[in-house]
Amino acid sequence: MTTNLPDDSTPWSELPRRLLVAGGAGFIGSAFVRLLLEREPDLQVTVLDKLTYAGNLANLAAVADRPGYRFAEGDICDRELVERLAGEVDCIVNFAAETHVDRSILDPDAFIKTDVYGTFSLLEAARLHHHRRFLQVSTDEVYGDVEPPALSLEDDPPRPRSPYSASKVGAEMQCFAYHATYGVPILVTRGSNTYGPHQYPEKIVPLFVTQALDSLPMPVYGDGGAVRDYLYVDDHARGIATVLARGTAGLAYNLGQGGEPVNGLQVARAVLRLTDRQESLIQHVEDRPGHDRRYALDSSRARALGWAPQLDFETGMERTVAWYRDHRPFWEPIKSGEFAEFYRRNYRPLAGTAPASS
Ligand code: NAD
Ligand code: DAU
Repeated sequence: MTTNLPDDSTPWSELPRRLLVAGGAGFIGSAFVRLLLEREPDLQVTVLDKLTYAGNLANLAAVADRPGYRFAEGDICDRELVERLAGEVDCIVNFAAETHVDRSILDPDAFIKTDVYGTFSLLEAARLHHHRRFLQVSTDEVYGDVEPPALSLEDDPPRPRSPYSASKVGAEMQCFAYHATYGVPILVTRGSNTYGPHQYPEKIVPLFVTQALDSLPMPVYGDGGAVRDYLYVDDHARGIATVLARGTAGLAYNLGQGGEPVNGLQVARAVLRLTDRQESLIQHVEDRPGHDRRYALDSSRARALGWAPQLDFETGMERTVAWYRDHRPFWEPIKSGEFAEFYRRNYRPLAGTAPASS
């Protein structure tokens, strides 16, 4: 156990000792692995990641020399590879997914393959090796659009409305079926919109921050009134660890910040304030098809396990903007590379303002 770390009520020491973390080179998965190995350096953690456009080994550089850490490049759909790696651990935590709603609208195919078939492949391996735990990282998007003032509870029916959220429901349903049919001890977390350092700059927060830092337009969908519940990435990772350690097999757990809901225009204005840029950078563009107007969670089930978010939106945004300001080598090559083509396809009217391709 490490000392000299700030107080953290997360039950890191109660976790299974050997973990397979699928999708651990992405945004939230890498935060989970970094925190985990900072708190419990003796754990054995194998990251399995395909390194898609969203995966980045630089996200794991801080743990690369830990004795218990191992990286395996590969696809969760590769049954043979997954079964071999799963044979060396006590549990699987599945972050691996295609995750961006706008990409799912343009190209749904990869979402079905990874999010649905890939989860099946991991569940089969967990069943074969009689794992102690299987945690599926899911999303509040499974509830679909939620009318105010309702808050989504875990037993509410899924009402997905995008190819992405439908693929995540498909994954969840298999988890519940594997629990009921084979007794696989699954857990599902449904996190809300997550932001913070190391996020690929396609989601609203890192996109708007990096656009503003370069004095480029921030494309607000429609009237900018759709609201989300923004959760800082380390708080999301701590919530996943808490559910993994203390959750009841077969249940889902909402993980939301639970403060005042924040809409797209408010995100843009927070970014302008923190980057000292002008309102004229806000540009309203055509709305996202099927845009969910509101997500809002009741997270009391996870809170009863001892989890509570530590950072409010203001503080989280200050940290996030500071990180992107200080880490241009993380995002500049992305924005002039893979992201530039996506930006042209997704934001056609703004195509002339795309970051220059390399
Ligand atoms: P991300 O896009 O940053 O990372 C996804 C990771 O999965 C990448 O490292 C990628 O290389 C890997 N991956 C993709 N396909 C793979 C495959 N077939 N095999 C192996 N690895 C593969 O995503 P994120 O934002 O870190 O999200 C992680 C998980 O959390 C996802 O399951 C997502 O649905 C869920 N989630 C995300 C948010 C959010 O706001 N970002 C909120 C709630 C839930
Ligand atoms: O709620 C959890 C989900 O949050 C995760 O499951 C997804 O993986 C993650 O991508 C995220 O989905 P959203 O679609 O809610 O996030 P995104 O950042 O794409 O959009 C957030 C809000 O901002 C939404 O109302 C759309 C708006 N938006 C987004 C982008 C990218 C804009 O106005 N302009 C943009 O350019």
